[in-house]
Amino acid sequence: MTKKIVIDTDPGTDDALALIMALNSPELDIQGMTSVAGNARLADTTRNTLRLMEHLGHPNMPVAQGASRPLRGKFNYGYHYHGPRGLPVRLATTKSKPRPLKAPEYLHSIGYSFPDEFVLIALGPLTNVARAIQREPRLVSWIKEIVVMGGAVEVGGNVTPHAEFNIYNDPHAANVVFDSGIPVTLVGLDVCEQVAFGRDDTDWGDGQTNGGRLAADVLSTWFTETKPDMDQYALCDPLAVAAAIEPGLLETRTATVSVEEDDSETYGQTRATYGEGNVRVAVGVDVDRSRAFVLDRIKSGD
Ligand code: RIB
Ligand code: CA
Repeated sequence: MTKKIVIDTDPGTDDALALIMALNSPELDIQGMTSVAGNARLADTTRNTLRLMEHLGHPNMPVAQGASRPLRGKFNYGYHYHGPRGLPVRLATTKSKPRPLKAPEYLHSIGYSFPDEFVLIALGPLTNVARAIQREPRLVSWIKEIVVMGGAVEVGGNVTPHAEFNIYNDPHAANVVFDSGIPVTLVGLDVCEQVAFGRDDTDWGDGQTNGGRLAADVLSTWFTETKPDMDQYALCDPLAVAAAIEPGLLETRTATVSVEEDDSETYGQTRATYGEGNVRVAVGVDVDRSRAFVLDRIKSGD
């Protein structure tokens, strides 16, 4: 049985790889995408989402535009990591435009249409998801599961020593989502930093499909121009998509999770209290099988 999904995304290089995978995965019945700022400004992430859909043969994929700012504060963009305008490669223009519905209302519409079937994959700051929950509490019963790429529970962060980028960029939204009671699978740095493509690996660069060639172009440009000092590319958003399709790739522990919003030193830190709760924290990953899964889905399709 296919999963009725929406992907909330801030493309972003690893988002782009994750979207290629998702579009190549028959297990996912993708209803649409919602864009959020994070890796780049909202105009960039929305344009990147629309152009990726066009490039990958889905020009009519619904794209609903979301938040340009977090619930509180401001976004710390990731241009230094993802490249100018959020991607290191230029994608062809598209005539496609975002749908009239804004992201929260679009998420309501999918939840209303597919109550208790709807699976949300969140690859950026959780601002859109939090706003959707705040504006329509019935969403809590309509959403079957949220697979979140975010957090760093037992490992250090990638923005500060304590905080991971997506959570750091809107910790209040993350607390709204974790506190909602919606079942969450939290795919954090604890697992995704173990699953990577290396600069000198030869398998990610020989894609023969449209998506495979785009992934090779993004990665080779990233390694040579964007981050010439890095030897590994962590597959964080791709692992979240893989986990939505094949949960057995991860070892998880049930927990309640909260995010630090006040202390300046640990701001954005995700804390897990194991035992009971609505969050399944990914504490382990089958690294080889996950990397192979990501590579296969990137290179499959047409
Ligand atoms: O920390 C990694 C996450 O932050 C990924 O979603 C990446 O795209 C950035 O948004
Ligand atoms: Ca992302």
